[in-house]
Amino acid sequence: SRPVILDGDPGHDDAVNILLACSSPELDVLGVTTTYGNVGLERTTHNALVVRELIGGDFPVYPGADRPLVVPRLSAEAVHGESGLDGPHLPTPTRGAEALHAAQFIIDTVRARPGEVTLLPTGPLTNLALALRLAPDIATLIREVVWMGGSLEAGNWSPSAEFNALCDPHAAQIVFETAAETGLKLTMFGLNVTHQAIADSRRVAAFRALGTPVGEFTAVLLEFFAEHHRERYGWDGGALHDPMTAAYLLAPELFEVRPLLVDIDISAGPSAGRTIGDVWRVTGRPPNVDAALKVDADGFFALLTERIGRYR
Ligand code: BDR
Ligand code: CA
Repeated sequence: SRPVILDGDPGHDDAVNILLACSSPELDVLGVTTTYGNVGLERTTHNALVVRELIGGDFPVYPGADRPLVVPRLSAEAVHGESGLDGPHLPTPTRGAEALHAAQFIIDTVRARPGEVTLLPTGPLTNLALALRLAPDIATLIREVVWMGGSLEAGNWSPSAEFNALCDPHAAQIVFETAAETGLKLTMFGLNVTHQAIADSRRVAAFRALGTPVGEFTAVLLEFFAEHHRERYGWDGGALHDPMTAAYLLAPELFEVRPLLVDIDISAGPSAGRTIGDVWRVTGRPPNVDAALKVDADGFFALLTERIGRYR
């Protein structure tokens, strides 16, 4: 099965991505690396341990960056609550995180298995940017990177920018430039596609109807996650961003992607963190990413529900 590293800031939707990947025999989760993001690093790391505990998983957890490269740290308690995983009862982890830094784990793992390892970042790109700066050779050794972040439409944390991109525009720029310079395969799931997959009441009910502890945990997570989206967007649920990364590996046919040149705005103005897609190829520069455009939302939720249902 395909070796993957999940790099994120759990986070409700990051947690669901971990659940999806770990229930899928097609994927071999080598480790979960954590970053600041939705909440601080200590909490996101704790939350990764909580999810591991919930499912009796055995993947190692490596804490990484506790802040962006240049800009001040943001966080999203308004969306994810103080814990970063508000809503369900959270089991107490019986095992801790590893001492090795996330960036070093990424480097070591990629070098040990050249051409094999896929990275699924679902938070700010700081860990990956650090790894690429410490070990530029890994750019051509990584199998591929599938990132949830950015937007080809409006932003959700500023009018221009999506949260993960805005958290660390400089890190995103390092990753996107590396893709342009080295051919590192990079796929981007921006808000333009993740906003097509709303975990509405009917879909949440399907998780609950599994009648299992992990099904119920997922339902309660998504109910909490829905609150912010109900208030902000008037939607009947939250956009389930992060699990699209694992789902893309499992069922690429659910998605439509196109090659696109994407630049990151690192200026400190109203467009900070914007992911600028050269839709009409006006720059003449070749594409550096596959940008996801469309998802079969019912197919996506069917896959997710079936996989979550595998936890007994
Ligand atoms: C992204 O920001 C975080 O709040 C979510 O976990 C997701 O990764 C959506 O903009
Ligand atoms: Ca996330």
